Amino acid sequence: MDLTTIENDIERVIVSREDLQKRVNELAAQVDKDYKDKNLLLIGVLKGAVMAVADLSRAMQTHVEMDWMAVSSYGSGTKSSGVVRILKDLDRDITNRHVLIVEDIVDTGLTLSWLKGNLESRGAASVEILSILRKPEAAKVEVSVKYVGFEIPTDFVVGYGLDFDEKYRNLPFIGVLAKHMYE
Ligand code: IMP
Repeated sequence: MDLTTIENDIERVIVSREDLQKRVNELAAQVDKDYKDKNLLLIGVLKGAVMAVADLSRAMQTHVEMDWMAVSSYGSGTKSSGVVRILKDLDRDITNRHVLIVEDIVDTGLTLSWLKGNLESRGAASVEILSILRKPEAAKVEVSVKYVGFEIPTDFVVGYGLDFDEKYRNLPFIGVLAKHMYE
């Protein structure tokens, strides 16, 4: 079997596997420091944040707990509308907990802005956001993201959890899909 099949669909690499690993380790060290003795709860947003939570948490040296949420943003195709529906809610109560939402990407910021407000309204002690990627040009709402892995251009990217039609999440790097794959 040709193991380069998926990679052949990628036009160019935006963030390499090595750079991702290095940056996630740096973020883990920072989060360790900031949340020392705070019994941090990582909340991964399914499905895109699976890789990020797995790598971040394993690079951390303090205790962390994990929970997961799945949300769907109403909108047409690749456009986000800001109206969010919870597909899978948290398993546990987060009252008085220090929460760090882990996301793959902040595009318009609409999803995260809604999610942050939703978790704050449940009585969390603090709610911050870590996102592996941020597209600054696309920001529709001002959402404060405490930890950002990389600022990237507005291209549609896949890999490291990010999908196109549920595929490419397993790429170990982040890249731009070749145009012929979606046109
Ligand atoms: P936002 O509400 O526009 O910030 O949407 C964020 C969500 O849109 C992310 O969690 C992704 O699921 C999806 N998304 C935004 N940009 C991309 C991209 O370039 N590739 C894959 N998914 C993306």
